[in-house]
Amino acid sequence: MSVTILAIESSCDETSAAVCADGKILSNFIASQSVHEQYGGVVPELASRAHMQNIVPVVDKALKEANRTLSDLDAIAFTQAPGLIGSLLVGAQFAKSLALALDKPLIAVHHMQAHVLANLIDQPKPSFPFLCLTVSGGHTQIVLCESPQQMRIIGETIDDAAGEAFDKSAKLLGLPYPGGPLIDKYAKTGNPQRFKFPEPQIPGLDFSFSGLKTAILYFLQENTKQDPQFVDNNLADICASIQHRIISILMNKLKKASKETGITDICIAGGVSANSGLREALKQTGEQLKWNTFIPAFQYCTDNAGMIAITAYYKFLAGEHTALTVSPSAKAEW
Ligand code: KG4
Ligand code: ZN
Repeated sequence: MSVTILAIESSCDETSAAVCADGKILSNFIASQSVHEQYGGVVPELASRAHMQNIVPVVDKALKEANRTLSDLDAIAFTQAPGLIGSLLVGAQFAKSLALALDKPLIAVHHMQAHVLANLIDQPKPSFPFLCLTVSGGHTQIVLCESPQQMRIIGETIDDAAGEAFDKSAKLLGLPYPGGPLIDKYAKTGNPQRFKFPEPQIPGLDFSFSGLKTAILYFLQENTKQDPQFVDNNLADICASIQHRIISILMNKLKKASKETGITDICIAGGVSANSGLREALKQTGEQLKWNTFIPAFQYCTDNAGMIAITAYYKFLAGEHTALTVSPSAKAEW
């Protein structure tokens, strides 16, 4: 039997729709919202309004690109949690209405589980069990994934997320939001050993990034006092040194998780997995420690409906449908 699913993602500031047929992503259309740049972060009310404007054309575009119509669909999937409630509501109401109108099953998807399962899109795929380091603007988690339905968090941040560490550092450097990709860009020509930032000593597999942010703040205050042009004159080295430390915090915990669990199929996911330094570090560590490493294609790293579609596909196969009475939720139990 062939299964075609339309999936919608609207948890934060990207409106996205994807069509998936038998586990293959046929289209993954993403409308980003540039309106937030001027505010230095996502403004929830503006995000909801933009989703309202975007949702119909985005779904239309995803269907057209996939060469499918509404009558081809076997199920409608959407991001149910976690995220900004006003943003989630737009996608959830749209998906519920469409499922009701077409009389097709509805499938609710957990955004963070979908980031992990983005690794099951295209070849080669990791074997179960695998570990996934999910690094986004709101989360930093090491997930042990035993099957598409069975995953558990074995380590997570106790304060800021890795993406926040990038974005807040960038803000201190006077760079616009989101600063992660800019730090990545400037770091490419910088010396990562030039400035030393502290590595926090957190027990187990948990992470902490708030100390790093404070250390960077004091470092910049100190140096700009002596040289007001310090940031401009040393931007590449500062970015490279900050990025180096964020990556070493992430990679050290990932190595520890692999050692403790004996699992060597290792994935990364989430917006920060687009970071070129992290991708390279994963590759190099993988070669050293004989891991099989996996990174989703770039378009499936940041928020996208393709990852919602692949997760929904496995739920569909397992017969997991969701009642139309479902509500979205800003926070979600795993
Ligand atoms: O997964 P995502 O798109 O949205 C959330 O669910 O949070 O992640 C967004 C985060 C932002 O913090 C952004 O700065 C970061 O991913 N990011 C990067 C890069 N590309 C995106 N951080 C570092 N280097 C990058 N190349
Ligand atoms: Zn995300």
